[in-house]
Amino acid sequence: MVEFYQPQADFGTPMSVGKQLVTLSIDGVSVTVPEGTSVMRAAAESGIKVPRLCATDQLASFGSCRVCLVEIEGRRGFPASCTTTVEAGMQVQTQSDAIGKLRRNVMELYISDHPLDCLTCPTNGDCELQDTAGEVGLRSVRYGFDGDNHLDAEKDQSNPYFTFDPSKCIVCSRCVRACEEVQGTFALTIDGRGFESKVSASQADAFMDSECVSCGACVNVCPTATLTEKSIIDAGKPEHAVTTTCAYCGVGCSFKAEMKGNQVVRMTPYKDGKANEGHACVKGRFAFGYATHKDRITTPMIRDSIDDAWREVSWDEAVNYTAERFKAIQAKYGRTSIGAISSSRCTNEEVYLVQKMVRAGFGNNNIDTCARVCHSPTGFGLKTTLGESAGTQTFASVAEADVVIVMGANPTEAHPVFASRLKRRLRQGAKLIVIDPRKIELVSSPHITADFHLPVRPGTNVPTLNALAHVIVNEGLEARGYIEQRCDVEEFERWLTFIGNPRHAPENTEEITGVSAADLRAAARLYASGGNGAIFYGLGVTEHSQGSTAVMAIANLAMLTGNVGREGVGVNPLRGQNNVQGSCDMGSFPHELPGYRHISDTTTRQLFEGEWNVALDSEPGLRIPNMFDAALDGDFKGLYCQGEDIAQSDPNTQHVEAALRALECLVVQDIFLNETAKFAHVFLPGASFLEKDGTFTNAERRISRVRKAIPPLSGKADWQATMALANALGCPMNYSHPSEIMDEIARLTPTFRGITYAKLEQLGSIQWPCNDLTPEGTPIMHIDQFVRGKGFFAMTEYVATTERANRKFPLLLTTGRILSQYNVGAQTRRTDNNQWHAEDLLEIHPHDAEERGISHDDWVGVNSRVGDTVLRANVTERVKPGVVYTTFHHPVSGANVITTDNSDWATNCPEYKVTAVQISKVTKPSNWQARQQSFDRQQRGLLDRARQ
Ligand code: SF4
Ligand code: SF4
Ligand code: SF4
Ligand code: FES
Repeated sequence: MVEFYQPQADFGTPMSVGKQLVTLSIDGVSVTVPEGTSVMRAAAESGIKVPRLCATDQLASFGSCRVCLVEIEGRRGFPASCTTTVEAGMQVQTQSDAIGKLRRNVMELYISDHPLDCLTCPTNGDCELQDTAGEVGLRSVRYGFDGDNHLDAEKDQSNPYFTFDPSKCIVCSRCVRACEEVQGTFALTIDGRGFESKVSASQADAFMDSECVSCGACVNVCPTATLTEKSIIDAGKPEHAVTTTCAYCGVGCSFKAEMKGNQVVRMTPYKDGKANEGHACVKGRFAFGYATHKDRITTPMIRDSIDDAWREVSWDEAVNYTAERFKAIQAKYGRTSIGAISSSRCTNEEVYLVQKMVRAGFGNNNIDTCARVCHSPTGFGLKTTLGESAGTQTFASVAEADVVIVMGANPTEAHPVFASRLKRRLRQGAKLIVIDPRKIELVSSPHITADFHLPVRPGTNVPTLNALAHVIVNEGLEARGYIEQRCDVEEFERWLTFIGNPRHAPENTEEITGVSAADLRAAARLYASGGNGAIFYGLGVTEHSQGSTAVMAIANLAMLTGNVGREGVGVNPLRGQNNVQGSCDMGSFPHELPGYRHISDTTTRQLFEGEWNVALDSEPGLRIPNMFDAALDGDFKGLYCQGEDIAQSDPNTQHVEAALRALECLVVQDIFLNETAKFAHVFLPGASFLEKDGTFTNAERRISRVRKAIPPLSGKADWQATMALANALGCPMNYSHPSEIMDEIARLTPTFRGITYAKLEQLGSIQWPCNDLTPEGTPIMHIDQFVRGKGFFAMTEYVATTERANRKFPLLLTTGRILSQYNVGAQTRRTDNNQWHAEDLLEIHPHDAEERGISHDDWVGVNSRVGDTVLRANVTERVKPGVVYTTFHHPVSGANVITTDNSDWATNCPEYKVTAVQISKVTKPSNWQARQQSFDRQQRGLLDRARQ
């Protein structure tokens, strides 16, 4: 849906949540609004705009500019409409000669210290100051410009994405308030008083040197050109806009892609987007330049061997070449010798087609997804205990939480827009328990201090969770009535005997987990008796040898305390990639058809067989690690890998690389020559999210539209490429638009039965399940009963990982993400986000560093049982002694050269979060890094030859 560009509607003050309705009269028009609404908003909702400068509906009203004055019968003077709330029977006048004069006087003062360069100003025609001057009828300024003014104030251009031009600032404080109220970073202040007052970043630093995290909230609300996107300064005002969904993290923020022709000039967070409500982070808001980066490959390429130069070919030739090679491999090695990996970065429709091509075209179930390596334990654990493989809440529901547990997640870095919501609730007084080996930002940040930080030793989540449950049970804090009514009581009694055993007492787990028994007891009491308890967790829970056990232990805790099935509570996996929920929903696992139905279930299989007109294999196929092992054994020879960089993101890189080298035909579909593509024989150019239609499903189960803003650079969207390959393989597919794919998904999947593109247009987004019972979707799950019927308390016996620290490998390495980069970094490394994080560092505690003679910035070797790499040291107390930490956004870091093949017992999700290592000071890159760099040079050379 392309619309002409216009600024998003602004009602001046936030919507009131008041329950009672109040009727008043504004300019003789009768208006009815909820109590608590401002007069300004009531007027705006009935189509009457009161001029304003310091007010916006993104922020609490402030009442500083005095432009919004009105007259109210029976009241003296001229109250500010933004800070005056409605009353029944109120008679308001928004226009009169007296009001007009006052407003003009105020505006005159503002304009007398403002550069009159509208014609050359980047926001000319899109400026609230300019509009307001027009609205109040200001025609001249009586005061000269000779006196003191700010017209020569120096611009701050340090931020790569926006400028700060104080000469245009009217000191309305909107930016300061946005940074506090919306983002929660508190990077800005108003320094000085009166004429001297000015906006200042941190301690009068340049924006880039301040605490600013470049979320853009201040830029969104600035009513002048003071804070302006550099892309707008360069390209000018947008002409049209397309509403779409961010392709980075699982928050799933909604954006207006604002365009000039086929150029995106700005991504503006959409105020009606239910996941983000007008907020964004530096990635979605600004880091979109990768989509048109010179490294994009837009022509299909083939080669016979990975030592050959690439040859650019037509789509037809590339597709037919692939089909012929796949058919030949199957003829020689058997039906199960090929498979595919679908992408959590692609749309639901694209993922669905890939799994359909594998099952109906390849004739096997060798389909897996990158969720294997992140949240597969969530699927297993939540399905087992609650009956559905997904989170239970909306993000907005955190506004009603009283106690929040954040475990193995770092929302301010990895799910920033959710983090802002969470921080808002914490500032209102909700309590916080952080369970994490590191002191993540939430442990202590402006206006937030965690009530408890349980610094769990990597690999000991399960005994920590068991100890929390033990305390609750032992101290009689469990929600008996809830459990008896909603859970399988027989299983619960069995579990009770298990969890009540003294081996789970915090005094006995302290030695294993490193968590103080006293803190753990206090945290358990707080969660069990502090009101609405909500748990948010991430990969620090799932990526363990007992990832599934930990997820079940989390579900146990929530059921034990009655914290599932209403607002403000729940079990909430924070999903990493934009569509990791959707890729799981769409049947990307080798044992499950769409909707999490087992492939061995005859009735379900027959349903798909009827629709697809083909017999399906009832045996589950290979998981990603099994594909690697089978490739090394010589049984698996062909792989179609869409939008996933397994060579960088999967554990034990050297093992993965050997497996990829063993393939006879590796087909990679991506937007760049990623690390995996360097081992490929066919490269199919992928499309960025800006180039295709479809849907993403975020961590709240929210299905949102992705809309094409520009045509696919390669001529095909990813779903069209898969369709072409399927047809060439003899698996007929004939869709003319992704909406038809969604119609098929809805026909075959009960939880999606009510989803159509038309309904998505109407409602904006829908949280599944959506069917006849819940035609508008299901924001909160398990309300009256669990999806599985009775909640199941699973046994969660702790089995220590075999990956232990010892004398040779005395430290435990754990990994995580950083705000400015995204996963393997393929997108964000090709943007100015690199200015914040140009390399991965190894965090090490001063005590461990000193023992090894390591100083800040030294190069250090990181050796594990499977490999070694070299990183630069960041000596910090953020990690505790015995634990080291790194990110994994740059290929050369080789973070996964050191991670092992250990994996979750139930799902094979790799144990990324625990690797025993030794650290030592070194002077040169590791052997693997030297090899990687030479291979990289060779492969770039082979690509360049194709492009010459
Ligand atoms: S960009 Fe975000 S973090 Fe930075 S100053 Fe503005 S609101 Fe604050
Ligand atoms: S920078 Fe913009 S939003 Fe901030 S005080 Fe100045 S005019 Fe207002
Ligand atoms: S990366 Fe995540 S939080 Fe940031 S804008 Fe995109 S969806 Fe929102
Ligand atoms: S908009 Fe009401 S005082 Fe500024």
